[in-house]
Amino acid sequence: MIKRAVKQLLSKMGYTIIKTKLEEVEKMIPPPLPANLFENSRVCNSREDVLQWLPKGGVIAEVGVAYGNFSALLLEQLQPEKFIVIDSFAITGDTEPWKQTVLKDSKMTHLEYYQNKFHQEIDKGQVVIYPGLSWEMLAKLPDKSIDYLYLDAGHSYEEVVKDIEQVSQKIKDNGIIQFNDYTLFDCFAFIPYGVPKAVHEFMLKENYELLFLCLHRQFFCDVVLRRKEIGC
Ligand SMILES: C[S@@+](CC[C@H](N)C(=O)[O-])C[C@H]1O[C@@H](n2cnc3c(N)ncnc32)[C@H](O)[C@@H]1O
Repeated sequence: MIKRAVKQLLSKMGYTIIKTKLEEVEKMIPPPLPANLFENSRVCNSREDVLQWLPKGGVIAEVGVAYGNFSALLLEQLQPEKFIVIDSFAITGDTEPWKQTVLKDSKMTHLEYYQNKFHQEIDKGQVVIYPGLSWEMLAKLPDKSIDYLYLDAGHSYEEVVKDIEQVSQKIKDNGIIQFNDYTLFDCFAFIPYGVPKAVHEFMLKENYELLFLCLHRQFFCDVVLRRKEIGC
């Protein structure tokens, strides 16, 4: 009762109570990277903008697709022979993110909505959907089979680490990995993100270099990585 009254009072005064402990954010600060992992880096305007610089064709994957907005762009810009789609497809009309009412309005399930949007590409075998937990679905793919992968599923450190463990096996030696939400803290949902820490640890362990830092207006940036050639 008192708790709610305090919350309402603070809210009236324009304050928000953030439940996240500061230590949780501090624990997510990534390890520093050596300069040689940046020597071929470029900065671009957005995650969309970078696609023009990436190789076309081949086998690509998007892990975490939501409504398929970025999927549509990947299909158009990268023109893959095969596009692997992984998502738990667990969004419902009552849990839609970003104030969306797409599922509520269409009265479709998340999976139905995505299938309907890409029915032509699914029918011709270009898009293949793996509904389920990201790291479990990634485990089903053949090793060293993917040319480009976009990772945008769970954003906690533990989830990203589990995904990266799989991705590192499934990506080809010269394949490209693009990570979304390279940021320490979601300032709208008030939760820490583990993407930078998991990504830096992966870069150090597997000798991946940063090809692009893709800026974002709200600083939910992307990073694009590729394994550094041996001897470089
Ligand atoms: C941020 S949205 C993806 C947005 C999409 N990449 C885009 O740019 O349009 C995250 C998606 O990942 C899915 N997701 C989150 N954690 C997941 C997990 N561990 N396994 C599978 N899907 C997951 C959610 O269902 C949601 O659709």
